Amino acid sequence: MKPRTPIAPFALLIVFSSSITYCFAGNVTYDSRSLIINGRRELIISAAIHYPRSVPGMWPGLVQQAKEGGVNTIESYVFWNGHELSPGKYYFGGRFNLVKFIKIIQQARMYMILRIGPFVAAEYNYGGIPVWLHYIPGTVFRNDTEPFKYHMQKFMTLIVDMMKREKLFASQGGPIILAQVENEYGYYESFYGEGGKRYALWAAKMAVAQNIGVPWIMCQQFDTPDPVINTCNSFYCDQFTPHSPSMPKIWTENWPGWFKTFGGRDPHRPSEDIAFSVARFFQKGGSVHNYYMYHGGTNFGRTAGGPFITTSYDYEAPIDEYGLPRNPKWGHLKELHGAIKLCEHALLNGERSNLSLGSSQEADVYADSSGACAAFLANMDDKNDKTVVFRNVSYHLPAWSVSILPDCKKVVFNTANVRAQSSTVEMVPENLQPSEASPDNGSKGLKWQVFKEIAGIWGEADFVKSGFVDHINTTKDTTDYLWYTTSIIVNENEEFLKNGSRPVLLIESKGHALHAFANQELQGSASGNGTHPPFKYKNPISLKAGNNEIALLSMTVGLQNAGPFYEWVGAGITSVKITGFNSGTLDLSTYSWTYKIGLQGEHLGIYNPGYRNNINWVSTMEPPKNQPLTWYKAVVKQPPGDEPIGLDMLKMGKGLAWLNGEEIGRYWPRKSRKSSPHDECVQECDYRGKFNPDKCITGCGEPSQRWYHIPRSWFKPSENILVIFEEKGGDPTKITFSRRKI
Ligand code: GAL
Repeated sequence: MKPRTPIAPFALLIVFSSSITYCFAGNVTYDSRSLIINGRRELIISAAIHYPRSVPGMWPGLVQQAKEGGVNTIESYVFWNGHELSPGKYYFGGRFNLVKFIKIIQQARMYMILRIGPFVAAEYNYGGIPVWLHYIPGTVFRNDTEPFKYHMQKFMTLIVDMMKREKLFASQGGPIILAQVENEYGYYESFYGEGGKRYALWAAKMAVAQNIGVPWIMCQQFDTPDPVINTCNSFYCDQFTPHSPSMPKIWTENWPGWFKTFGGRDPHRPSEDIAFSVARFFQKGGSVHNYYMYHGGTNFGRTAGGPFITTSYDYEAPIDEYGLPRNPKWGHLKELHGAIKLCEHALLNGERSNLSLGSSQEADVYADSSGACAAFLANMDDKNDKTVVFRNVSYHLPAWSVSILPDCKKVVFNTANVRAQSSTVEMVPENLQPSEASPDNGSKGLKWQVFKEIAGIWGEADFVKSGFVDHINTTKDTTDYLWYTTSIIVNENEEFLKNGSRPVLLIESKGHALHAFANQELQGSASGNGTHPPFKYKNPISLKAGNNEIALLSMTVGLQNAGPFYEWVGAGITSVKITGFNSGTLDLSTYSWTYKIGLQGEHLGIYNPGYRNNINWVSTMEPPKNQPLTWYKAVVKQPPGDEPIGLDMLKMGKGLAWLNGEEIGRYWPRKSRKSSPHDECVQECDYRGKFNPDKCITGCGEPSQRWYHIPRSWFKPSENILVIFEEKGGDPTKITFSRRKI
């Protein structure tokens, strides 16, 4: 289907310009053309890799693979809520060891762009801001309110001071060449009125006053005060111009794929279109470009935002969730980077001239007095190939493509001509193996331990209230789970008891998901989705004469991560009714409800290997299937080989998983459904024309996420403790460790 274009033979050997050396020392400044590092203009090709979305053991490999992919800079947000666990109580260990991550980048002799935010969006829980801050009176996030500004400044200063102490800013000889404050506030500022304007200005000034010796940027901010640079986030940024002519054109987020939600589909952005967008950006004078994401990684534990963002944050990025190159995407972009770097001198020092080559075709030429000349020939027609004449030579340009000519003569790369090898990925299942063959399990298989939660209040109730509370205000996100319980007396004269019919339970919830139990039996489940978190539940309910316990397990699936006033968006039950009584409908909404935050197993921390309390685990070779509210534990061997591992949860329902106390995350092999009139699945994807996340989707009717990444470094050779909490019912004997093979 794809049109091809002839390429000069020497182009097959693209060598990166050896003139690019990274000497870390000196201030970073800028002019209209580019960043100036150590007095030299430089092109920046950057890759977003978020440190908490992989594990430290993966960091050097990821950074190296980005470097091999022709990238010279790594970009990451700083994740405030992972660092400041409660006011003034900080954490910088494990996946949150920011300094270690940056030093790995430094050792690879690469630059870094540090997006401190501290609001990040990023499909990360609560947009990266700590939940506790919402409960400090007088706080409105991202607005001119004292508590917000106080805590934001305190955290930003802490990060900046930490970077200074470790000498990580380029001005101190370190790798950090740019820092970001806030994130896409321009879209939301007007919602906050005058306070929004004051806040944006305050944020910029507060950042500049930190005196870091490298420029500050604000992405998608339309009124940045000098010297802060406004930057672009989009699928295309060639038409973007910074607000001041003295500033370089910076693209902070080019999305080479897209994120997924539980119940949503698989978006795909074709490599040809990504390359087209990047080439167009450099053609049109851009000099700093970042892929968001280059490695998306994993939303471990409960760090996924949303609601409904999947545990996988693969993003269809050039490096996949598991740390393996995704080809041909990675390879195609590597070739593109090589071609752009061959143009670096001309791009950064030449005069630009534009000439039309047709109605939708144009050339931009960069030439200087030394004879350096680089040209980009673009065909923006999204249907038709075109042969154009440039400097008396004719060139075939496939539709929606750019040819790069580092000497203004020979095409070394065309964005629509994918020569990089494709790879296919296989998930090879390995059954869970008992850690040690003992007489009672060696031959027969795996021994499981099982613990069942009560449906409803375990231990002491937290509180009783008539009517409903907001879910998030109650749990404060210490857990996904909140029990709402009540009881009703059913008179034995009710018709439904005699004729065998069942009344119907009707529930309304602001989100995100719910399991309904009556007398300890699961009656049904319901949930919203990534585009609409609220939902209605309607299912028959089994009731008996006399007292009936109603226990509703309400769940959050990642907190809202963006939008105006997003921190006020609530969740939880708002109405409960039962229809089908002799007297009509029973409205339980004003009843007295008894509440319990979290699960007993969570409260006890029974997923921790060090957990020693007596709990009534039941040992069995045949774990119960389709049992709601069940904890499963097995001690297993590390799967053989060294390939990355995905936990196959296809036959499970919904819940949480841990290995050796490390949080794998939420699992939910929920099948993808249509969420908009546009999200039809495609057999083939035409790269030509403007991309949007609904354009090339697959996975209709398939689970949005079947495999859950377990980093190899979390395994021990034996005695690995796998713990699963299953909410609604599944078959744990079908769980496998799948080895990801290319
Ligand atoms: C941007 C935002 C990023 C991320 C992205 C979508 O608007 O700045 O943090 O959320 O959208 O993946």
